[in-house]
Amino acid sequence: PPLFTLISAPDFTAVAEQALTPKAWAFYSSAATDLITHRLNKALVRRIMMRPRILRNVKSVSIKRKVLGHDSSAPFFISPAAMARLAHKDGELALARGASKEGIIQCISSNASYPLGSIVGAGHKGQSFFLQLYVNSEREKTAELLRKARDLGIKAIFVTVDAPVAGKREADERLAAENVASAVSGAVAGNDKKGGGMGRLMAQYVDKELVWEDISWIKQVSGLPVVLKGVQSAADAQLAVKYGCKGIMVSNHGGRTLDGAQPSILVLLEIHQICPEVLDKLEVFVDGGFERGSDILKALALGATAVGVGRPYLYSLMYSTDGVEHLTQILKDELETAMKLCGITSIDEAHPGLLNTRDIDHL
Ligand code: FNR
Repeated sequence: PPLFTLISAPDFTAVAEQALTPKAWAFYSSAATDLITHRLNKALVRRIMMRPRILRNVKSVSIKRKVLGHDSSAPFFISPAAMARLAHKDGELALARGASKEGIIQCISSNASYPLGSIVGAGHKGQSFFLQLYVNSEREKTAELLRKARDLGIKAIFVTVDAPVAGKREADERLAAENVASAVSGAVAGNDKKGGGMGRLMAQYVDKELVWEDISWIKQVSGLPVVLKGVQSAADAQLAVKYGCKGIMVSNHGGRTLDGAQPSILVLLEIHQICPEVLDKLEVFVDGGFERGSDILKALALGATAVGVGRPYLYSLMYSTDGVEHLTQILKDELETAMKLCGITSIDEAHPGLLNTRDIDHL
């Protein structure tokens, strides 16, 4: 269907299910085993109700935000996802161009299907990018990547810490990965003997011995701020402060790693309740199931600096750069509308009082 007929992120999902190749759909849409965490990510955000305030002047609103010190036109960004080229030949380049046109930040996956330099080069000069990092068990390879990231002007490293091994993603695993080599430029071809899908193949190089003490090495080699992607408890949020992280990203990989792990919004609520001081000491990001402007506003009200959007951006790639721009405009518009209807004009005014979280408080 023509792009203008799509008016929401779920519309993109519906089209993707029909239009993507079975392999791309399986890889993108899948999550671990019974999809418990994947489904609850979205469902629990929706069980938070809002408490709008009335009779305030809401003629104009601002959704601009500084993210780790860098300007973003909105309090959301593109979460890192592997192999964008499965959706469209322009892959991550289209994400970069769309993000650039819309003034939002793209977090590039370690398993992107284009070289880092090309992706950064596709955006406009001065555009901000983050790099998601899987630490390689051959540390020198990671050191090389970090130095390259620094030289390319990447602004921060998001170290993924929720996936020392890949989760068991059955939709993905049911499809043989034989033809992946032709679809992507990375070194991820073939299927393994246990029938593992692309996720497991890509995770093979990931260092399973990575521990807290290694964070300072990443900071030192890259010279960049480090954000931990995949924090799933208040206890680890507190440790992230102790180990000098500049941010944490509350995430369970879109439900693709440990099925049954707490949905992201619950973890954010847990941090809010158990260690609210963390929210002052570092920037907190969150992703998993955010598809609407109002979903994003709820996370902001709970203290998040910005929200990551994963699958919807992969699906938007069916329309290349135009799709990325269109989806971004939809999310911005929905967020602005939700803010006006809540009676706030700046995202700094979002606060927990705007929410009724009772329904999920005791989960
Ligand atoms: C991911 N995700 C991910 N995360 C990461 O740190 N490195 C990666 O390479 C990938 N790759 C990846 C591929 C695909 C197809 C998906 C769907 C996800 C996880 C991603 O960054 C993010 O945490 C989730 O996608 C967020 O959930 P939503 O927005 O997809 O619900």
